[in-house]
Amino acid sequence: MTETILITGAGGNVGREVVLALAAPPGPATATATATVKAALLPELVTAWAPLPGVTPVAFDFLQPATFAGALAGVQRVFLLRPPALADARRHFAPFIQAARAAGVRQVVFLSLVGVDRQPFVPHYQIERLLRDSGMGWTFLRASFFMQNLNTTHRDEIRRRHELYIPAGRSRTSFIDTRDIGAVAARVLTESGHEGRAYTLTGSEALNYDQVADIFSAELGFTVRYASPSLAAFVRSQRQQGTPWGYTLIMALLYTLTRLGTASVVSPDAAQLLQRAPRTLRQYVQDYRQAWLTA
Ligand SMILES: NC(=O)c1ccc[n+]([C@@H]2O[C@H](COP(=O)([O-])OP(=O)(O)OC[C@H]3O[C@@H](n4cnc5c(N)ncnc54)[C@H](OP(=O)(O)O)[C@@H]3O)[C@@H](O)[C@H]2O)c1
Repeated sequence: MTETILITGAGGNVGREVVLALAAPPGPATATATATVKAALLPELVTAWAPLPGVTPVAFDFLQPATFAGALAGVQRVFLLRPPALADARRHFAPFIQAARAAGVRQVVFLSLVGVDRQPFVPHYQIERLLRDSGMGWTFLRASFFMQNLNTTHRDEIRRRHELYIPAGRSRTSFIDTRDIGAVAARVLTESGHEGRAYTLTGSEALNYDQVADIFSAELGFTVRYASPSLAAFVRSQRQQGTPWGYTLIMALLYTLTRLGTASVVSPDAAQLLQRAPRTLRQYVQDYRQAWLTA
């Protein structure tokens, strides 16, 4: 049976990979992906995705309930992502979760955070709770730090200053590639047996940032240094670069948790679901190397 899957955050790092994984040949034969994006992104993505089989961009905004009915029409499964700017679970996500239930959605696959079950103060914890109470089937993908943070948030410091300016001390992080998260999401959205399951998605090793810098140096052909700033110095530097307070504080919180060891857990779940080893950081740097070499 062909099912329709609604993918939220489809223009972002992970949502884009979920769409690509669902549409990629040989692709899951049972699924038709309905990708949803904010209206402002629609023209660009209609063009970009026109050749992808079964992908229909539709307008969708968590903050505009009038967009829910169109996005949810005919949908059986949803990939739910919390856009970083939306932090209030009850105000920003409960209305959509209720609408999904009313529209007959059977399963919601939610992109959550590694270790979230011990972090009741983060929005993902509260969204997981809303989903458990919703009456719909749920699957949680509790992801570790994305490798792709290094070619987005941290791209310029690597490219321009040849350094990693990250306040993680000597802690270790089990980075995961967003392409692997997309592949896992595509699988659990198109196969039965994943309802009521929480998967911890990590790479197969946890690296400290000196090791990360060494991999960058070996692959890029110039020396990349791990600066290891204090949390206070990191916050000052982000503010000087014009990063908004809210985002700066969230990063400071996440790196504080990282220092406490929460990002170092290594789980077999990704390898089991991918049926291969997750991509390594070295593979990721090789694939994205132009990001740090071009102006
Ligand atoms: N970074 C990490 O290491 C990491 C690790 C584990 C979990 N996570 C979680 O992953 C999530 C972020 O994923 P990501 O990096 O893929 O996000 P992202 O690249 O920032 O993409 C967010 C997407 O959501 C869309 N969006 C923003 N506001 C919206 C709204 N009001 N209604 C509908 N769509 C909206 C954005 O569209 P526009 O571009 O038009 O705004 C964009 O397409 C967060 O919940 C984060 O906590 C991150």
